[in-house]
Amino acid sequence: MARTIGILTAGGDSPGLNAAIRAVGKAAQRAYGMHVIGFRDGFMGLMQNRYVRFNQNSLSGILTRGGTILGTSRAKVDKMDMGDGRRMDMRPLMRSVAEEHGLEALVCLGGNGTMKNALKLADVGIPVLTLPKTIDNDVAGTDITFGFDTAMNIATEAIDRVHSTAHSHHRIMVVELMGHNVGWLALGAGLAAGADVILIPEIPYDTHEIAASIAARRAAGSSFSIVAVAEGAISREDASVREDLEQNRSEAKGEEREELKRRLKDFDTTRAGGTAVLSSKLEELTGLESRVTILGHVQRGGTPSPADRLLATRLGVACADYIAEGTHGVLVAARGRGTEAVPLKQVAGQTKSVPLDHPWIGAARHLGIALGD
Ligand code: F6P
Repeated sequence: MARTIGILTAGGDSPGLNAAIRAVGKAAQRAYGMHVIGFRDGFMGLMQNRYVRFNQNSLSGILTRGGTILGTSRAKVDKMDMGDGRRMDMRPLMRSVAEEHGLEALVCLGGNGTMKNALKLADVGIPVLTLPKTIDNDVAGTDITFGFDTAMNIATEAIDRVHSTAHSHHRIMVVELMGHNVGWLALGAGLAAGADVILIPEIPYDTHEIAASIAARRAAGSSFSIVAVAEGAISREDASVREDLEQNRSEAKGEEREELKRRLKDFDTTRAGGTAVLSSKLEELTGLESRVTILGHVQRGGTPSPADRLLATRLGVACADYIAEGTHGVLVAARGRGTEAVPLKQVAGQTKSVPLDHPWIGAARHLGIALGD
């Protein structure tokens, strides 16, 4: 049987996915004579055996396209939502689909959820490899993920534009950025766009400290302030409530554990409206008018930046090389200018937060940018 590989994209879409599909597929076809198929809509399509066969023509013309030509979903392999309230472990079915196609490798392009799903598939004997994509840049084991650079470009331009209106109206402008539970995007774009305050989940904030820094700017002659807030940023009070809930959940068992899990989820959902609350508290404390801009999904839409195209291309090509030499059960990670095959066991379930000694944090502090602490 001809050597065949499968590709799927899972989790939130991200610029650079098509560049990566193209790179893995073309390198597998051209350098190794492999057949390439793509499963639609992530692990859901794998389970349903919905796929498309790629020839070399079908992988052309997609390098610059945003989103994913394969479609995506957030389905979980061992808790697949059956649409009738049941959640089932569908890995045996997925394994039989992989066997039916004689897959030598299944390449899963995704973020942290995908790393976990892929490891679970590896556990039942499917030869998986993953590539790190997400605008959040929070995948462990890799220097960087594709999608992050594009999102940072979009967010930087957006904050640049907010600057002139903030300046004209002498307002506080609170700009919320994505990033899930980490601050890479808000910190990177905030620094690049010259935000005056940057709030990230890694540094719980004190609203009075933020207000004091805005008041100090005003006293020094700047009548406006730009506050870049990561969607996961959290106040000190909320952080301590959350910590207690987490602690109780980790110690609880059975029904009580499930209940605490639900409460934690509810807490995070309510907290998500926190940017509006923060904005009105800042108005109250500073006497300045404040407006909120939520950048949302704009940050992950559209054409990938050249840096993301290059990253996705080099990781995709390296992935084909790893497959050809029989490596699987790994994340194809970016390390410096090269790549490294990192065992999925070391990566799944981990989150790469911004280290507190990161040079971007040091630079922000030296520039007098308030981090809310
Ligand atoms: O992981 C990428 C991401 O865009 C996060 O930054 C954000 O929290 C989440 O996905 C949004 O998810 P959804 O696509 O379900 O709105």
